[in-house]
Amino acid sequence: MSSNSVSIKDLSLSFGAVNVLRNLDLDVADGEFIVLLGSSGCGKSTLLNCIAGLLEPTDGQIFIKGKNVTWEEPKDRGIGMVFQSYALYPQMTVRKNLSFGLQVAGFAKAEIDKRVARAADILQIQPLLDRKPSALSGGQRQRVAIGRALVRDVDVFLFDEPLSNLDAKLRAELRVEIKRLHQSLKNTMIYVTHDQIEAMTLADRIAIMKSGVIQQLADPGTIYNKPKNLFVAGFIGSPSMNFLKGELVNGAGGLAIQVDGVSIPVDGYTADEAMAAGRKVVLGVRPEHIGVDVAGAANTYDAVVDIEEPMGADNLLWLKFAGHTVGVRIAGSRRYAPGTHIKLSLDMGLASLFDSGTELRI
Ligand SMILES: Nc1ncnc2c1ncn2[C@@H]1O[C@H](COP(=O)(O)OP(=O)(O)O)[C@@H](O)[C@H]1O
Ligand SMILES: [Mg+2]
Repeated sequence: MSSNSVSIKDLSLSFGAVNVLRNLDLDVADGEFIVLLGSSGCGKSTLLNCIAGLLEPTDGQIFIKGKNVTWEEPKDRGIGMVFQSYALYPQMTVRKNLSFGLQVAGFAKAEIDKRVARAADILQIQPLLDRKPSALSGGQRQRVAIGRALVRDVDVFLFDEPLSNLDAKLRAELRVEIKRLHQSLKNTMIYVTHDQIEAMTLADRIAIMKSGVIQQLADPGTIYNKPKNLFVAGFIGSPSMNFLKGELVNGAGGLAIQVDGVSIPVDGYTADEAMAAGRKVVLGVRPEHIGVDVAGAANTYDAVVDIEEPMGADNLLWLKFAGHTVGVRIAGSRRYAPGTHIKLSLDMGLASLFDSGTELRI
C-alpha cells in the first residue's frame, strides 16, 4: 500500500472530439495540500469532477486511499466538495444545511449534533446557525459551504475556486482561514484556482495545467525559482518574469547571451545541461532580480526609465533595455522620473534560461 491519498493514473477525458484531459498522472500524499492552477478552460474542474465522481473519465483510473474508485458513486468515495457557487439550500437554516446530508445518510441525531457543533466551532459560525443563507454575507455562505464538507468527516476535501465569488479583501481573509483549517485538520486537500496568489500561499505543491496537461508539479518555491518551461515562468509572478530573446555567443569573458547587441555574460547561471554558442535562448529574469544603480555591481548595462508605477511598498519601473521593455521592482522609497538614464544589473544566479525552440529550461 502506498501512502498516497489520491492517485490518478493515465487519466484522459474527451467531450466528443475535444480532449480535455490527456494521460494525466498525479499522486497526492496523505495530508497534502495540492493546488491545480491554470487559466480558465484548461481542465481543472474537469479533473476535480473526475476525482469527485461527477464525471466519468474516458480512460485511466483513480485511486483514493489505495482503493480503485474510478467507477464508484460520489458518496462512496470519502470526499467532500466545496464549489464556487455555494450551492446552499435557500429555504433551510445554516444548521439544517449542515445536518441535512447526514440525516439523509441515516446518522443518529446525537452524532449529527456533535458534528455540526464541531464544524460550526472550527469555522466560527455558531452565531449563524439559525439564519437562512439569504441573511448571510458571501464570506459567511462560503464558510457554511465548507462546513457542509467538514461534517461529512471525509479523508479528502475538493475545492473548486471556493473564493472566486468574494471581493478581494474577503478572499484574502478566507484564504488564511482555509490555510488554518488545513493546518489543524491535516486532511488531504485538492484545490482548484486560477489565482496564482492562492496557489503560492496555500499549496504544498502546485500542479500548473495547460490544455489538460500538467506542465509542472512542484512546491511553490521551485515553481517560482526554477520554472520548467516558458509557460510556467510566464504564468507565475506579477508582474511577469521578463523574457529577453537572444543567442548564446562566445564573448571575451566566456559564454554570453547576445540580446539586441548587448552582451550579457552567463556567469553565475547554473545550467542543467551543456550550453554552446549559436543556441537561440530566452533569458528570464524576475522584476525583483534586476538591480537599478547598484553600487559595485559586476556587470551593468545602460537602460532608460520609460514608466514609473509607485505602489507604496514597492516601486515598479518599466525600463527600455536592449530592445525590450523590462519591469523592475525596487523599494517604494526609490523614485525615478521617466527619461532617467540608469545602470541596470542582473542577478544571473536567480535567472532562468530557456531554449527558444523547445521552450524548456536549460
Ligand atoms: N460538458 C462539456 N461538454 C463539452 N465541453 C466541455 C464540457 N465541460 C467542459 N468542457 C470543456 O472542457 C474544457 C475544460 O473545462 P473546465 O475543466 O471547466 O476548465 P477550468 O475549470 O480549468 O476552467 C473547456 O474547454 C470546456 O469548454
Ligand atoms: Mg473550473
